[in-house]
Amino acid sequence: PHGGGSDAAAGEAVAAPVDQQQQRPISSILIIIAMQTEATPLVNKFQLKEDLDSVFPKGAPWVRYYGTYKDLQINLVWPGKDSTLGVDCVGTVSAALVAYAAVQALNPDLIINAGTAGGFKAKGAGVGDVYLISGVAFHDRRIPIPVFDLYGLGSRKPCSTPNIVKDLNLKIGKLSTGDSLDMSPQDEASITANDAAVKDMEGAAVAYVAEMLQVPTIFIKAVTDIVDGNKPTTEEFLQNLAAVTVALDESVTQVVDYINGKCLCEL
Ligand code: ADE
Repeated sequence: PHGGGSDAAAGEAVAAPVDQQQQRPISSILIIIAMQTEATPLVNKFQLKEDLDSVFPKGAPWVRYYGTYKDLQINLVWPGKDSTLGVDCVGTVSAALVAYAAVQALNPDLIINAGTAGGFKAKGAGVGDVYLISGVAFHDRRIPIPVFDLYGLGSRKPCSTPNIVKDLNLKIGKLSTGDSLDMSPQDEASITANDAAVKDMEGAAVAYVAEMLQVPTIFIKAVTDIVDGNKPTTEEFLQNLAAVTVALDESVTQVVDYINGKCLCEL
């Protein structure tokens, strides 16, 4: 990393200046999780405290937990419960909003979007598998007009983590995001085109915000139900949610332990 490259001779390959952020140990991580059931064990594991004097706008249901774990400042945010219906605010709208507000307020070095997902047995997924995601895209934003089609697809890459891939025993696969738990035939065609092993309701929305605000992001998704299996998704999801959350939280802890003391470029 010598010089910025603006004075480089034409055609000469010049390494991009290494971002200073890449060279110092990660100090602050933001974990974004959609459901309370998924968040609570991690809040306990990392001994995080709830922020009762919210950094978020008045009226937003978003909840922040914070604390120090090893050498890391951890913030965990959860979009909270719908004020009228009392259920977790799952889906892309809440995920994007809480991601935006949390990054603005907390300026993290790295985002971890963790959660459960539906898996595809055709891509090798089984219930309880935990995936480190290698690419994200949407499957329910169909805009068949040139270039708008690519905007709708919203395909993005997580930050590069070759050492996590090598050193931790996580499955690797692509994630497809949409706002429905079920899967319409049109969604299915898009998910197949996205080459996804898992589908969720938040990942690509978090990726959109993370790219906009330039925060490196990784995605960890645990499989609660097999979308191309023969059990009804809702039943299988609810039946497995608690047990799979244990596997998810173990993997998130492994990744956080791995990140501790390392720079982004060592991941
Ligand atoms: N989260 C858990 N299971 C899911 C599914 N089948 N689709 C979307 N999100 C999920």
